[in-house]
Amino acid sequence: MLKETYVCTSCETAYPSTPDIWKCPCGGLLKIEWEKPAFSKKEIQSELPGMWRYERALPFHSRCSVWEEVTMGEGYTPLVPLSQDDPHTFVKVDYMMPTLSFKDRGAAVLIAKAKEWGVKKVIADSSGNAGTSIAAYAKRAQIECDIFLGTSTSPKKVAQISAHGANIRMVDGTREDVAKAAQLAVQQEGTFYASHVFNPYFYEGTKTYAYEMWEQLSRVPDTLIIPAGNGTLLLGVYQGFCELLAEGLIEALPKIVAVQAENCAPLAEAFYEQRLEKVSVQNKGTIAEGIAIAAPERAAQILHATKQTNGYILTVNEQEIKGAHTALAAKGFYVEPTTAANYAGFLKHRRMAHERIVLPLCGAGLKAI
Ligand SMILES: Cc1ncc(COP(=O)(O)O)c(C=O)c1O
Ligand SMILES: [Zn+2]
Repeated sequence: MLKETYVCTSCETAYPSTPDIWKCPCGGLLKIEWEKPAFSKKEIQSELPGMWRYERALPFHSRCSVWEEVTMGEGYTPLVPLSQDDPHTFVKVDYMMPTLSFKDRGAAVLIAKAKEWGVKKVIADSSGNAGTSIAAYAKRAQIECDIFLGTSTSPKKVAQISAHGANIRMVDGTREDVAKAAQLAVQQEGTFYASHVFNPYFYEGTKTYAYEMWEQLSRVPDTLIIPAGNGTLLLGVYQGFCELLAEGLIEALPKIVAVQAENCAPLAEAFYEQRLEKVSVQNKGTIAEGIAIAAPERAAQILHATKQTNGYILTVNEQEIKGAHTALAAKGFYVEPTTAANYAGFLKHRRMAHERIVLPLCGAGLKAI
């Protein structure tokens, strides 16, 4: 049987991984350590559906695959050229997911784990898409669900969450206030915190983005351009590529270029001030609501991952985001503004000749506009 352990990223204390812990008492963030079976290229590419083809790299025991009761076919999304005249740029169409965003990768793993643990109720906070994913998978797993949202959340995302039967708990405040309200409820009610930010199982799901890309391209791209708010995709992707490197299946990590909205860019600010710790700014307002995170909890890890890959962080303004939205639609892709922000980042990135780039199209346009 696999035994997963939570380890504090600050003080290195180890805990059994259980539903009642989401942060170390020292305040440190948790990571999971577990003995993964070694895998060759052939072993890792199983015949299972979607992202579960990498089951061997996921923290479930294959003989009692609780995820089979939860899956809605998420993952193994198309990787296609951005356009016919650019053979070196690919988009990974992660809006082709059950709830129309990449967050389904993380939610499927996290909720499957909650079901394995016998959790009866979950609480989460979100800017919209993670809450939608958690609500959908919780419903499928027959787990009660409360989602904390800010009052400015896109009405279409609120409608989606509500349709899945989650209790919506509106908070009139900043994104940080919403998270604090959820954490207080978790503490008072003794409920499982299905946080896409704090719970490391979520990143076990988002790492499949890296595995898929590696298999679909038959090699590692030179550069990944990734929108970063709390960094759940960025950190999952980094983890996935680090695992492939550790198994000897790739020779180098791709460069990670993180994209933030100019009006809410704590990571970019820290990067250029050469700081590596948690940072916070004032959110001046952006249509890229998915990355409007003024104080990302895992900032230090995001900055570290970006540096480790020789990457960097760039910002895009509201005009550039709107222009990128139109430009992507003209290529056939209708995305939400957060994804458009990432495309705007791609357009600003000074690429080298023949640099092979992959961008995620991580949220569908009908969700937000
Ligand atoms: C469509 C979309 N893209 C990107 C992101 C950014 O993800 P993260 O905050 O985990 O960095 C989000 C987050 O909600 C999102 O909804
Ligand atoms: Zn600690």
